[in-house]
Amino acid sequence: MAILSAVFWFLVFSLLSGMPGGGDLSSVLFRPSSLSLPLLNSFTFDQNPSPEQQPPPAPAPAEDRCAGRYIYMYDMPARFNEELLRDCRALRPWTAEGMCRYVANGGMGEPMGGDGGGIFSERGWFDTDQFVLDIIFHGRMKRYGCLTGDPAAAAAVFVPFYGSCDLGRHIFHRNASVKDALSEDLVGWLTRRSEWRAMGGRDHFFVAGRTTWDFRRERDEGWEWGSKLLNYPAVQNMTAILVEASPWSRNNLAVPYPTYFHPETAADVAAWQRRVRAAARPWLFSFAGGPRKGNGTIRADIIRQCGASSRCNLFHCHGAAASGCNAPGAVMRVFESSRFCLEPRGDTMTRRSTFDAILAGCIPVFFHPGSAYTQYTLHLPPERGGWSVLIPHADVTGRNVSIEETLAAISPEKVRSMREEVIRLIPTVVYADTRSSRVDFRDAFDVAVDAVVGRVARRRRDEPDARR
Ligand SMILES: *[C@@H]1O[C@H](CO)[C@@H](O)[C@H](O)[C@H]1NC(C)=O
Ligand SMILES: *[C@@H]1O[C@H](CO)[C@@H](O)[C@H](O)[C@H]1NC(C)=O
Ligand SMILES: *[C@@H]1O[C@H](CO)[C@@H](O)[C@H](O)[C@H]1NC(C)=O
Ligand SMILES: *[C@@H]1O[C@H](CO)[C@@H](O)[C@H](O)[C@H]1NC(C)=O
Repeated sequence: MAILSAVFWFLVFSLLSGMPGGGDLSSVLFRPSSLSLPLLNSFTFDQNPSPEQQPPPAPAPAEDRCAGRYIYMYDMPARFNEELLRDCRALRPWTAEGMCRYVANGGMGEPMGGDGGGIFSERGWFDTDQFVLDIIFHGRMKRYGCLTGDPAAAAAVFVPFYGSCDLGRHIFHRNASVKDALSEDLVGWLTRRSEWRAMGGRDHFFVAGRTTWDFRRERDEGWEWGSKLLNYPAVQNMTAILVEASPWSRNNLAVPYPTYFHPETAADVAAWQRRVRAAARPWLFSFAGGPRKGNGTIRADIIRQCGASSRCNLFHCHGAAASGCNAPGAVMRVFESSRFCLEPRGDTMTRRSTFDAILAGCIPVFFHPGSAYTQYTLHLPPERGGWSVLIPHADVTGRNVSIEETLAAISPEKVRSMREEVIRLIPTVVYADTRSSRVDFRDAFDVAVDAVVGRVARRRRDEPDARR
């Protein structure tokens, strides 16, 4: 299974490797943005933090808007985070360009030039990779309004470790000790800290911007997939934030995958919401994705049904067309012109595409509750039928249920109200501009931090962990 998965990924990534070379590394990392914001100096390799990055002193308790929400962020050796970005080509060694265009701008990636022919709004759009949340989260945390330099005053302790970058470099390495070296180093470094001893790390949290399955390797045979980061007892004491969590583990929380939109202000969000609300949606439904081998997914049925329907826009990511599926404009164009977007499981239960669909105001259609409902409980409302459709997997694969007929039977009023709910979710599922300290709306980062703070507070009271 693991070896099949590795071979499969190799094939996928080989297909995506046709990107143009990125020029020299420093020009990629330091290319000025077309936006007015400066590049983050914290994402250069200057290891001495500048004065504005020092946490502000805690204000007097009487006027303390941060009470109960202070975060202490470790100042970690750069080998655990920013140094990993230095050799950005090595983070995705099977492509010519590596991760260089994606680690730029605090993990948001290169800015989109222009509005993509009317696909994007004026401000806040970047070519963002799906597996960079650790970098993005660190950037947002540097500008969190309630940082403290005093660990004893903190509600929770943030560990800025770039687990997804570390794994990316070694993902096809056959030697387990190479894959685990930095995780091992991290555990040793953390457990020697006085900050750790206060709660045995149970007030600590970190982000590893991939799925949980990449960090739970069971055995040490070289061919087995992933690292064993999440298996260390010390790491199990912490809260791991991932884009897909294990339902059998309490030490991880799932948060949305990053999308292409990183607005700075509520006004930028509102402008985008107006745009998707007004978008013409000639297609009843659409599917953007490729086939998967085997009987574990229903993609073959989806591609067949969508291909056969005049009301479905099929963006088939297959063969020569596959690289187009990584082109933000092409994907967003499909979703912005569809009323429903099909979101079957990918290589794991979840897909980044679900969040691209929500961003486009397209109502997601799931085939398994594990694709979103049981994962993103912090960010997506529990009234599932208000913003999404579930067509059980077995109805399509076993009973030949027509996706088109199922969706066409939903009344136009219901479709409108569901779409409005999806559009309302947009600010909650996007990650704001990592370079900005004037973000004035509650984004996916804020929701996640509040959840961790609540979770640690329950742990301090000796109450069990909860998912919400
Ligand atoms: C795996 O890597 C470690 C550390 O680099 C090395 O000591 C060890 O000999 C390697 N094992 C194999 C089987 O190559
Ligand atoms: C994990 O937390 C428990 C309970 O606080 C503690 O006894 C244990 O030592 C911690 N583990 C590590 C590796 O610090
Ligand atoms: C898929 O299922 C069918 C019927 O159950 C079976 O005949 C076929 O061999 C399976 N294919 C794979 C690739 O597992
Ligand atoms: C499934 O439904 C389609 C359209 O109604 C039909 O053409 C096809 O023959 C059906 N397939 C099976 C295996 O029943």
